[in-house]
Amino acid sequence: MADLKEILVIGGTGAQGIPVVKALAESGRYRVRVLTRSTESSRAKQLAALPNVALIQGTQDNQQDLHRAFRGVYGAWVNTDGFTLGEKDELFYGIRAYEIARSEGVQHYVWANIEYALEIASFDEKYHCGHMDGKGRVGKFILALGQEGMKSTVFSTGPYMDMLIDGLFVPAEQPDGSFVWANSAKDGKVPLIALDDVGIYNLWIFDNPSESAGLDLSVMTDEVSFDDIARTFTDITGKQGLHKSIPFEAYADIAEPYPGAAVNWALGPDAVRDDSVMSWRENFDAWWRYWGGGVSKPRDRALLDRIHPKRIKSLAEWMERVGYDGKKRGSILKMVEDWGIKQGAQVGKVGA
Ligand SMILES: NC(=O)c1ccc[n+]([C@@H]2O[C@H](COP(=O)([O-])OP(=O)(O)OC[C@H]3O[C@@H](n4cnc5c(N)ncnc54)[C@H](OP(=O)(O)O)[C@@H]3O)[C@@H](O)[C@H]2O)c1
Repeated sequence: MADLKEILVIGGTGAQGIPVVKALAESGRYRVRVLTRSTESSRAKQLAALPNVALIQGTQDNQQDLHRAFRGVYGAWVNTDGFTLGEKDELFYGIRAYEIARSEGVQHYVWANIEYALEIASFDEKYHCGHMDGKGRVGKFILALGQEGMKSTVFSTGPYMDMLIDGLFVPAEQPDGSFVWANSAKDGKVPLIALDDVGIYNLWIFDNPSESAGLDLSVMTDEVSFDDIARTFTDITGKQGLHKSIPFEAYADIAEPYPGAAVNWALGPDAVRDDSVMSWRENFDAWWRYWGGGVSKPRDRALLDRIHPKRIKSLAEWMERVGYDGKKRGSILKMVEDWGIKQGAQVGKVGA
């Protein structure tokens, strides 16, 4: 155990963090320290039961906790949660986490990023999406500081393919047995990433610092429009799939978590918020316009194939692997799971 390099993982109990923790810990080359607000959650306990994994209690938005968390580790993989922090705090703590890591002598820092949508869209405010830009700005800042003193890698993901099971991409089953994706996407190709592959990419990043330092590794499994998703679904399942492009406001009337929700809706309607916190509608209007309008640029498939030759290569392959049937549901996002428990507890459905 003594000669294993230790990696701090922030966001390790989350949808994106779990495969990273597992890949690092299972490699036999790293041990992992996971920062979590609760060492008692079921996800935290499952991770702690793995070999080479330890938990440290604390929050992303507390500078003493960050110092404690980074102290003594070789590397760090940091996925701050813009959906709880909000855009302003993600920007502040995203930058502070990097600075604190350097002050504690971390050697290789990996920032879990989302591309800077506003910049890519030439600063057209219609594309200002708080949970993307909060991360995208920090990614730019980190790479601009260069590789002296601490190596850094930016790991950029688009929307999770797994959100076809839990989240914004779940289709609605119709009385005639067909499945409809009704949303405001147009014909843009969305670079969906299967979470199962996220771990191997990050293991490669830590294993190959001479190649990964300074890189913005922008991953995806497949680049597909919603028409492609519906067509692939039909090919794989034999069931009819259909994409209906509808105006954002009509979509939001169905998808908004609750009326007037803020982008950090899971904190509940009464949380204290200021002008920097976008409404859910503003944030996701920009998000659908960006991804569904095809503003993003294609990924480098050849690089991804070289780094991860066994990666899932297509949406069809992923659907076959997970036995996708349009009805399959799972708990992917911890935030959504926590919200369900909180709501269930309030109406007495979930016991202590
Ligand atoms: N959904 C997507 O398709 C997608 C795609 C790319 C990037 N992202 C980004 O990923 C981030 C969310 O991560 P996720 O997708 O893994 O979501 P998730 O499953 O909901 O997990 C959230 C994670 O953040 C941690 N967390 C939240 N607030 C914290 C705090 N104050 N201190 C410490 N830990 C905290 C949670 O840990 P504990 O609860 O254990 O403390 C958990 O590990 C967001 O910034 C989002 O923009 C999402």
